[in-house]
Amino acid sequence: MTKSVTTCAGLKRYLRRARRPGRTIGLVPTMGALHEGHLSLVRRSVAENDRTIVSIFVNPTQFSPGEDLARYPRPLARDLAACRRARVNVVFIPTPEEMYPQGFTTHLEVDRLSKLLCGRSRPTHFRGVTTVCTKLFGLCEPDRAYFGEKDYQQLVIIRRMVADLDMNVEIVACPEVREPDGLAMSSRNRYLTAEERREAPALYRSLVEAKRLVEEEGTTAVRDVTRAVRKLIRTAQGARIDYVSVVHPDTLEAIDVITGEAVVAVAVYLGKARLIDNMKVKARKKT
Ligand code: PAJ
Repeated sequence: MTKSVTTCAGLKRYLRRARRPGRTIGLVPTMGALHEGHLSLVRRSVAENDRTIVSIFVNPTQFSPGEDLARYPRPLARDLAACRRARVNVVFIPTPEEMYPQGFTTHLEVDRLSKLLCGRSRPTHFRGVTTVCTKLFGLCEPDRAYFGEKDYQQLVIIRRMVADLDMNVEIVACPEVREPDGLAMSSRNRYLTAEERREAPALYRSLVEAKRLVEEEGTTAVRDVTRAVRKLIRTAQGARIDYVSVVHPDTLEAIDVITGEAVVAVAVYLGKARLIDNMKVKARKKT
C-alpha cells in the first residue's frame, strides 16, 4: 500500500512506526512529473531498501524570479499511480508553506561548487537544492538517498555536503536515462515544441562526439573538444548555448588538458526550455 503524506508531522509519525533496527529506508527526492529517469531511482530504492519514500515537491527556493516555477508540470494523479505501481511505501507531497513556514530563515550553501557551471546563470539554485535536501534528510533520516547522474553538478554538491557535515546517509548515484534518440529524460522536455524536440538530440550527439574524440582519437586538448561540441549543438536550430565545459569529476573545476577522467557538461536554451546534459570521458592511456 502506498501512503500519501502531506505534512512533516505526518511523515515523522509514519517513520516513528515504520523504523525498526535493521530495516533500511531509501529516499528519492523529486519535483514530480515523474518519467523513466525518476522511476529508475525509485525502482532501485525499492529493490535496495525495506521502505522507500518518494518526495514530490516543486521547491520554490531553487527557482529564480523569471524561471519556470509557476508553469512547472504537476501531474500529481499520474505521479501517485506510478509510485503505487513501483510499490513505494510513502509519497511525501508537502505544500511550500509546510516546507517553508513563516519565519523560515536557515539556508545551507556549498561554497564554490554551487557557483560553477549552472551556478553562473542560476546563482541561488543550488542553495535551494541543498537546503531542501537537508530538510528532507532531517525529516526522513534515510539510510540511502538516490540521485541521478543526469544532474551531475547537483550530485557532486550533495555528496560534498553529506561528507562535509557528516550526514548519516549514503548517496547513491544512478545512471542517466535517455529517450531512444539520446535526449536525456527531463520533466522540462515537455516545454519543447515538436520542432524543438526534433532538434534536441543534438546535445546528446555532441557529447558522443566528445567521447569519441577523447577515447578513440586520443584528443586531450579541451579547446578542440569544446569546439566540436559547440559546432554540433549549433546544428540544432534555435539552440543558444549557456555553457560547454570540461571539468574535473569531483571538483568541477574547468580543465585545459584531459589526462584522466573528466566530465563534459553542457547547458543549452532551446525555446522555452533550458536543457542540461553531461557525459564522462576518459583519456586514453599513453602507450
Ligand atoms: P528532479 O529534476 O525532479 O529530479 C529528481 C531526481 O531524478 C534527481 O536526482 C535527478 O538527477 C534524477 N533524474 C532526473 N532526470 C533523470 C534522468 N534522465 N536519468 C536519471 N536520473 C534523472 O533534481 C531535482 O528534481 C531537485 O533538484 C531535487 C533534488 C528534488 C531537490 O528539489
